Amino acid sequence: MSGSWAEMDERHLVHPFTAADQATEENLLMLVSGRGVRVSDERGRSWIDAQAALSNVALGYGREELATAAAAALAEIGFATLFTGRGHRWAAALGERLAELTAPGIERFLFTVGGSDAIESAIKLVRYANALAGRPEKRKVIGRQGGYHGVSLGALSVTGLAPLREGFGPLPEYAGHVPQAHEPGAAEALERRILEEGPETVAAFVAEPVSQSAVVAMPRDGYWTRVQQICREHDVALVLDEVITGFGRTGRMFAGEHWDIRPDLVTMSKALTSGYLPLGALGMTEEFHARFARPGQTLMHGFSGGGGPAACAVALATLDVLRDEGLVERAAAAGEYLRGRLADLQARCGWIAEVRGIGLLVGVDLAAEPGVGGRVYAEMLRRGVIVRAYGDSIVFTPPLVITDEELDEVVDVFEAALQASAKR
Ligand SMILES: Cc1ncc(COP(=O)(O)O)c(C=O)c1O
Repeated sequence: MSGSWAEMDERHLVHPFTAADQATEENLLMLVSGRGVRVSDERGRSWIDAQAALSNVALGYGREELATAAAAALAEIGFATLFTGRGHRWAAALGERLAELTAPGIERFLFTVGGSDAIESAIKLVRYANALAGRPEKRKVIGRQGGYHGVSLGALSVTGLAPLREGFGPLPEYAGHVPQAHEPGAAEALERRILEEGPETVAAFVAEPVSQSAVVAMPRDGYWTRVQQICREHDVALVLDEVITGFGRTGRMFAGEHWDIRPDLVTMSKALTSGYLPLGALGMTEEFHARFARPGQTLMHGFSGGGGPAACAVALATLDVLRDEGLVERAAAAGEYLRGRLADLQARCGWIAEVRGIGLLVGVDLAAEPGVGGRVYAEMLRRGVIVRAYGDSIVFTPPLVITDEELDEVVDVFEAALQASAKR
C-alpha cells in the first residue's frame, strides 16, 4: 500500500459517470465521514450534500439506527438467500411493510440489488407473462425521452438519454421513447406510438411519476389519468419507476399517490435503505403475479445479492425512521420552503428562468449562456454545497432531514455562485 487514498483511487478505480479529468487525485472529492446533511473529506473540508449522494441518502449521513440494524442482521445470520425455496425473516417482514405502503393492489415483491435490475426484472417478467399467455410477440417496451431507468442493457433500452446508449448497442428490441409528461400532447403521443407499433407487440410502458433526469419534468394536468386509460385499453403493463421518487422524496410515501397512479408493476431502490446498503424491489399486483406463478412453473430469474438480511434490516429501520420522524410530511414542507426561497431569488435576479418541483425534488433552469450550469456547480462546490447540474439546470434533492436553516445556507450559496458565475 503506497500513497494517499486519492493516489490509490487514481491508480486503480473505474468511476461511473465520471470524465477522465474528474477522476484525478487533485479533482476527486474524497469523503471520509458524514453527519446529518453534511459530509467531510480527509482534509477537514465539509459540504452540505444537497444532492443526498444520488438522491438516495434520505435520512442523512451517519445514522446509528441503520448501522445497528445492519450489524444485528449480520451478526445473527450474515447472509441468507431467497432462491430455490428458501427465505428469511427480514425479507418477509419487509414484503409485509412494502405491501402496506405501496399503491393499493401492489402485494408481491421481488428483491433486487438496485434500480437497474428492478427495471430489468420488470421487462423480463412482462415478457415472460406474455410468453406464458401464448403471445410472445407482445414484448416491446416504451420509455420516455429524458427518462433514466438504469444502465443494464434492458433498462438502458428504455432510458431515453441518447448519450448513455452510444457505443453500447445493439440494445434489446424496444419501441422507442415518447415525449415527457410536461410536453403538450404527451399522453396522446404514447397512444399513437402503441398504435404504430401494433398493440399486439407492446408489452409495457416504463415511466417515472416525475422524472428527475428530464430535469424534474412535472406532469401536465390529466397526463397520468390519460396514460393509465391508454395502457388499460391496449393491455400494456404500466411499470412505474419510483427508484428516485419512492419513500418520501416528493412529500408522499410514493410519488404515484399525487396522481392516484395504480401501476401493474412498481420499481424502487435508493431511499429504501437511505442508500446505506444496496437493495431494490419490483412490486407487482397479485393479478400480474398470477400470470407467471403457476403450478409447475419455476421462475428462472433472480440476483444473488437481492434482498439479503442486512439490506432488508436496514430498509425496515429506514421505514421506521421515516414514520417516527414524520419525514414524508417534512419533505413536503421543506420542499415548499425551498421553492419559495428560490422563487424569491428568481424575482431578485435575472438568472433564473424557472423553478419547479414537488417535495424535495426541485429543479431550477438557469437563464444564461450555455455552460453556466457547470460553472454554478463548481462555484457551489467551492463554497461548500453539493448539487446536481444537468446541462444548464441545477437540481436539488437534499436529505429529507434538512432543516430550514440548512436550506437557507444552500440558497445563499446558490445565489453567491450565480453572482460569481455572472461576473466572468
Ligand atoms: C428513476 C431511476 N430508475 C432506475 C435507476 C437505476 O438504479 P441503479 O443505479 O440502482 O441501478 C435510477 C438511478 O439513478 C433512477 O434514478
